[in-house]
Amino acid sequence: MARDGAVYVCQSCGATHTKWAGQCTACGAWNSLVEELTSRPPGALAPTKASKTRGLNFETLETETATPPRIVTGVEEFDRVCGGGVVPGSAILLGGDPGVGKSTLLLQVCAQAAERGASCAYISGEEAVEQIRARAARMGLAHTPVKLAAETALRDILDGLKKEHFDLVVIDSIQTLWSDAHEAGPGSVTQVRSCAAELVRLAKKRGVAVLLVGHVTKDGQIAGPRVVEHMVDAVLSFEGERGYPFRILRGAKNRFGATDEIGVFEMGDAGLREVRNPSALFLNEGGERAAGAAVFAGIEGSRPVLVEFQALVAPSAYGTPRRAVVGWDSGRLAMVLAVLEARCGLGFGARDVYLNVAGGLRISEPAADLAAAAALASSALDCALPQDCVVFGEVSLSGDVRPVSRMEARLKEAAKLGFSRALGPSGVDGVIGVSRLADAVRRIGEEAWD
Ligand code: TYD
Ligand code: MG
Repeated sequence: MARDGAVYVCQSCGATHTKWAGQCTACGAWNSLVEELTSRPPGALAPTKASKTRGLNFETLETETATPPRIVTGVEEFDRVCGGGVVPGSAILLGGDPGVGKSTLLLQVCAQAAERGASCAYISGEEAVEQIRARAARMGLAHTPVKLAAETALRDILDGLKKEHFDLVVIDSIQTLWSDAHEAGPGSVTQVRSCAAELVRLAKKRGVAVLLVGHVTKDGQIAGPRVVEHMVDAVLSFEGERGYPFRILRGAKNRFGATDEIGVFEMGDAGLREVRNPSALFLNEGGERAAGAAVFAGIEGSRPVLVEFQALVAPSAYGTPRRAVVGWDSGRLAMVLAVLEARCGLGFGARDVYLNVAGGLRISEPAADLAAAAALASSALDCALPQDCVVFGEVSLSGDVRPVSRMEARLKEAAKLGFSRALGPSGVDGVIGVSRLADAVRRIGEEAWD
């Protein structure tokens, strides 16, 4: 049995157990239970001395007081993902791998918002003030009126924020904070949760927008941002493929806006540069498009983006052929391969298949099915697609090519970038229509495009 007041908390999913076990029964992770001492069981109400109950105070949906306007930070890609600026009094969690550029992004957001007149504070538990200054100098933001602090004690941070009013406060990162109300170490589920809860409460009560940084870790050494996702108003993730300068900001949850918007940045010597028109960014420039390449006319959020799918189908050297995919769903790849085998007569049984989305972008639209299939067929048949052709369309298990959303916008963006042809679902103006995947494969194999 656990000692009095001790619980075992899974560091990967946050589930609490009364007994230690080798495996978490909630998420199945091994060796993730850590004893945490809490002064009272999690979830239990604090004993109150108040004897008179105050009851509920109902309000109406309508109100006379105007809602305060959003804080437009001036980092447009960030504002758009937030839904048009940061809502005062909201709590936003920014998650991402260590080193992806979260601190850089939020320092930039803070600095630009401060320059536009918002009062902003940047509180770091990871870096010393000198280090943040050096980064600001490198990014050309040293003159901006941002208030800096290096602090990890939650009590001091809360006291400071109660004394002075800010519009926007960055906490970098939630995993470094510790509250003296709990014995557990910084970064443990108990600490991360209770520190986040206190900061969210402060945000709502004082109308301060709080931006929390949360590191995503895979090994479960420190509690991931997942354990606070339900407390905050918006969850953004900052992603980037190793080796590419591009960084993509995505909304995973947003109480004040859509979650399908993306913000695109490029990491350079002087911080992050906003990429306002990313449509040509992910295209592989540099000459001829070889066999195995297909340009997908996609939509990311509200903007069309062209991106190249690259496939390599090669004889397998080993008994079990390899399937490797970067930037696309591996389940989707398996499905498209199965349809190509069953409906189009292409065999992949003894061949390795590699599929890559150029530029480090991750594609999740079903509209990319046909582009992936075209790239695979083009490599398998060793026939290149025309240079000026984009591809889009959803492929069903029966081998049909289905229409997708916003086809006009896709065609318009492709035309703008010099693509004069499109391979896609039949019955659409300006598209080389294929109603079945087998038709598309035949066209690619016969190089019949006119
Ligand atoms: P950082 O914002 O510290 O990442 P995080 O807070 O997510 O851990 O960014 C770290 C990386 O960004 C580091 O590898 C260096 C790179 N970087 C640049 O390339 N240029 C710059 O101007 C800055 C500030 C950082
Ligand atoms: Mg950082």
